[in-house]
Amino acid sequence: MRNYYIAGNWKMHKTRAEAAELAKALAAGLKDGKHKYLVAPSFTLLETVAPIVRGTNIRLGAQNMAEAEEGANTGEVSVLQLKDLGVQTVILGHSERRHNYHEDDALINKKVRLALQHGLEVILCVGELLSDREAGKAETVCETQTVEGLKGVPAADLSRVVIAYEPVWAIGTGKTATPEDADAIHAYIRTVIGKLYGGDEAARIIIQYGGSVKPENAKDLMAKENIDGALVGGAALKVETFTPIAKFA
Ligand code: PGA
Repeated sequence: MRNYYIAGNWKMHKTRAEAAELAKALAAGLKDGKHKYLVAPSFTLLETVAPIVRGTNIRLGAQNMAEAEEGANTGEVSVLQLKDLGVQTVILGHSERRHNYHEDDALINKKVRLALQHGLEVILCVGELLSDREAGKAETVCETQTVEGLKGVPAADLSRVVIAYEPVWAIGTGKTATPEDADAIHAYIRTVIGKLYGGDEAARIIIQYGGSVKPENAKDLMAKENIDGALVGGAALKVETFTPIAKFA
């Protein structure tokens, strides 16, 4: 019933020529892939990648967006500008935005609601710091980020929301949560969705895992009942590493 959804977050990597090369290789390599796919390049690369993935089974995503449609927001990019480039999905609340650029739940919630109002799909990232986990707070941190991130989101829009559980201590560190630990948090997030939107939505919502996903660990993570895909960083930068994750068997 839930389809796997594998997304690549290219972060602040690649020039236009490099992005075009990777996007072309992925479009060819994933043509017969069975799952749902997405690439999220930097803003400056969206116009280059858009025509390459258009009409393929790879969606075009952005890594962030402003909380306003337009205005005096120097250095920001708006939802209207993203849609104009063919962006279908936006990643919001990534831990690098939360922790390095100090985005809080209230700001992320504004962005989530605006993106949904404009018809975009949202990948809402949640995840605890190592200190939270050590203090036994992994669940409560993820619950708060989920509840606050979705505040005011009507049930009708939830079908365009994907949650990505990304334990901060596992991102870019080579340390992956064990499939069991990740699955436990995914199950918990599902109960949080159930409390907010009911059991059907809890059973339907896609929850990706992110944090050092590699070809070697993708299959074991995806085998878990509550893990419905991956948000991939480092391993999304090369066709040789993203393709086997995207086509895990
Ligand atoms: P990583 O990044 O795969 O390099 O750990 C994941 C992410 O930040 O989305």
